[in-house]
Amino acid sequence: MSQDPKADKLWGGRFSEATDEFVERFTASVTFDKRLYRADIAGSIAHATMLAKQDILTTEESEKIIQGLGQIKDEIEAGSFQWSVSLEDVHMNIEAALTKKIGDVGKKLHTGRSRNDQVATDIRLFMRDGIDTVSVAIRQVQKGIIGLAEKETETIMPGFTHLQTAQPVSFAHHLMAWFEMLQRDYDRMQDCRKRVNVSPLGAAALAGTSFPIDRNMTAELLGFDKPAANSLDAVSDRDFAIEFCAAASLLMTHLSRISEELVIWTSAQFDFIELPDRFCTGSSIMPQKKNPDVPELVRGKSGRVYGHLVSLLTLMKSQPLAYNKDNQEDKEPLFDTLDTINDCLKAFADMIPAIKAKKESMRTAALKGFSTATDLADYLVRQGMAFRDAHEVVGKAVSYGVEKNKDLAAMSLEELQVFSPEIKQDVFSVLSLEGSLNARNHIGGTAPAQVRLAIEAAKKVIK
Ligand code: ARG
Repeated sequence: MSQDPKADKLWGGRFSEATDEFVERFTASVTFDKRLYRADIAGSIAHATMLAKQDILTTEESEKIIQGLGQIKDEIEAGSFQWSVSLEDVHMNIEAALTKKIGDVGKKLHTGRSRNDQVATDIRLFMRDGIDTVSVAIRQVQKGIIGLAEKETETIMPGFTHLQTAQPVSFAHHLMAWFEMLQRDYDRMQDCRKRVNVSPLGAAALAGTSFPIDRNMTAELLGFDKPAANSLDAVSDRDFAIEFCAAASLLMTHLSRISEELVIWTSAQFDFIELPDRFCTGSSIMPQKKNPDVPELVRGKSGRVYGHLVSLLTLMKSQPLAYNKDNQEDKEPLFDTLDTINDCLKAFADMIPAIKAKKESMRTAALKGFSTATDLADYLVRQGMAFRDAHEVVGKAVSYGVEKNKDLAAMSLEELQVFSPEIKQDVFSVLSLEGSLNARNHIGGTAPAQVRLAIEAAKKVIK
């Protein structure tokens, strides 16, 4: 450092003593916001291009700046760039390096701009990329689900309510429920992207700038849909980041629900599926164990994502207009949310196509627990009985079955007729698992024919 202890600060002019060493470290963000370097340089290039077009800088000055920024980007990517905590953040690190590289003309880059609109621009560019990556990752998982579902339309498992056997369903139907949840997550991300993709550049510190800037031009150069309409709002609000974390939280809710089912299904008690060894680990003491670590971890990671949502909500709450330093705290939760959901989606994209359905085991389970009891009640209604009466009749038959340890389909016609003389020989096709599934042949129902239609529709959606 030079003799003047505040000499390296880009804002040192009005200060007479150096920043306290602790305060310097406490207020710095470069250790984490350097991740924004690509967005920061892209924003600066757009700004410099616009300054030249508006005759605020000469073409020569602008070109020199743009060239210097390009070299800095290469250095950062090569790992040779020297980040300095005393330069506080990614913006001032890059700007200082630029001036060092190209001389005093580098100091002109910040004309008509502030770090406040700069950082807001950077985060939005960064997040737009992030949302695009997440969207592709969601699609990958959805493709995996469709691939597995196509093989399992005729596979029958018990469907549950209250985790008690309810009615038989096609395994593919269950899988396609996951597809639908993820489709809403995808749509939420796309919707959030619209509000992310607005340009704060030109809002400057808070009130705009006295230079004749062209905000439409910078917005267009950076691929934004439009410039933000109000400068105070543009530099201060992080609602788009909160919205992203909310969408990410719902996504994690869905992944945790799917994870929970995978964990349950791989247990010896259920034994519905097998996960390949590469997604599991063993126990250091119990030799028989094969633990479903990957879904368990995804389930657990939902906690940190919800935490980040609450962090950002709390960070934003009660902030007066316009920019406040509080906002520097938006980055770590945001980055970690993005990394976490990308990792979880990657794990799922790899794991789902590798799931092996244990068809016999599912079928055996579906045959237990009187899963076709509703079908018998519906049968009696078709014979003219009121549904409530039919419900009562079947309830008694089930109670008899529990006592005799006999499913409805395993009872003889004589046994069934004790409960209602309306029951005839044709009841047995209704009581079969296949009969139960095929009967639910309407939009959104579990009949394999409908599930195949749902799969075809889903393929079109993700195309
Ligand atoms: N590192 C800061 C942030 O992340 C950049 C903006 C700083 N602006 C300011 N006026 N101190 O928010």
